[in-house]
Amino acid sequence: MQEVLEIKSQELNAWEFIKIKSEEISKLVGSGFAINALSGGVDSSAVTMLGYKALGSRLKTYFIDNGIMRQDEPEQIVSIFRGLGVKVEIIDARDKFFAALKGITGPEEKREAITQAFYKDVFANLVRESKAKYLLQGTILTDIDETVAGIKRQHNVFEQLGINPQEEFGYKIIEPLVQLRKDGVRKLAQGLGLPESIFNRMPFPGPALAARVIGEVTPKKIDTVRAATSILEEELKDSGAFQYMAILHNDRATGMRNGKRDFGMQIEIRSWDSVDARRAMPTKLSFDKLSILSNRMVTEVAGVVSVTYNITSKPPSTMEAI
Ligand code: XMP
Repeated sequence: MQEVLEIKSQELNAWEFIKIKSEEISKLVGSGFAINALSGGVDSSAVTMLGYKALGSRLKTYFIDNGIMRQDEPEQIVSIFRGLGVKVEIIDARDKFFAALKGITGPEEKREAITQAFYKDVFANLVRESKAKYLLQGTILTDIDETVAGIKRQHNVFEQLGINPQEEFGYKIIEPLVQLRKDGVRKLAQGLGLPESIFNRMPFPGPALAARVIGEVTPKKIDTVRAATSILEEELKDSGAFQYMAILHNDRATGMRNGKRDFGMQIEIRSWDSVDARRAMPTKLSFDKLSILSNRMVTEVAGVVSVTYNITSKPPSTMEAI
């Protein structure tokens, strides 16, 4: 396993980092093409801008619509980047991801199904069509730490696990952010001229809303968790929390609606205070805010009869539920 030298956020000189990494990327790719997938998260956004600075139109950027993103996310992100002069193509891969997730219930198996659908199917096709030899990717040091420690297999970590992407998928991966953690990437993203809605964007996991559904992921369950997520994001946008999420449980609970028993769905809310996601404490939300969240979710999200707030710290909890 290759040792990675960390650059701490306070040591990072964004301007110098951009210069060095752009030169490295441009040298590696030469006169060829590279491609990358933009999700709108700060990591993939920083990589997109860095790659764009290094390669210009020799970088092809795609937004893979996997069907498990938040409300209107593909259009919003593509429009932000269009404003910065970066062309992004949306690839509709919703059916492929739902087919890959069908019948799968285990957390690691779900992550693996998403990895395979993303890298082996959708992305491998794009690489083949675009004739790109390189994939630029925003893996950061925390992804590697947690994968190597066996806590969670981050969907984007390969070489550190001894997987050769060239042999497995037919392309080489360039990971320019691998020495940074989230706070360093935010500083870099700001240095790259990205807007605050991106450089201060709340983290959102690669497996997207599939990480927020316990048990099998179906389009219907994703619709439910997406609607709950929209309410949560609207209500907590000024909370100052590091990250918040709505989770759809697999178990049902008895509730009542219109005087009748309703064996309905349960949403768990988590909201975290944290600096770098390695340790986290639940946000001290007011009871009034929690009541608003609960009332809105049971009235606006069809089939939800129970809303809970998780008060565990990380560790021993992790931030995501799966
Ligand atoms: P956990 O759940 O490991 O989350 O405490 C720590 C941070 O990492 C994010 N996370 C992921 N990000 N791919 C990602 O890109 C993943 O598979 C993944 N799993 C967790 C999580 O949202 C939190 O910010």
